[in-house]
Amino acid sequence: MAIAVLLVSGTGMIVSAGVKQLSITWLWMIGLGVVMMMIFVQIRVVPFARLGKCLAVQDWPAAAGHIQQIRVMVILNLAIGLTIIAIMKIGSR
Ligand code: HEM
Repeated sequence: MAIAVLLVSGTGMIVSAGVKQLSITWLWMIGLGVVMMMIFVQIRVVPFARLGKCLAVQDWPAAAGHIQQIRVMVILNLAIGLTIIAIMKIGSR
């Protein structure tokens, strides 16, 4: 849901500002933002779905493995998000 709001509001702001105004920092933000969305969908579709199945059959060791995988991908997304904020802050100076 948050992803949909971000896409719609951001795209609306870009269209209202004019696509030609796009600077390199904006392109980095949007590009990395899309990468973050793809990682989220990847988490939801692969390890999260597998985790649900493991929990249903009470296969705890396998479930722990999927949780670990989710943790690594979430940390990766967090790092990308912080990188975007740093790029935006440096770029807006
Ligand atoms: C693809 C999705 C995204 C779109 C369409 C989008 C769009 C925008 C737009 C239109 C602005 C206003 C820029 C300005 O007024 O100069 C903005 C600012 C900003 N965005 Fe994004 N954004 C996206 C993803 C992200 C993500 C994932 C992050 C960080 C995790 C992020 C961090 C920021 C920051 C920190 C600013 C403020 C920059 C400043 O004024 O110093 N954005 N974004």
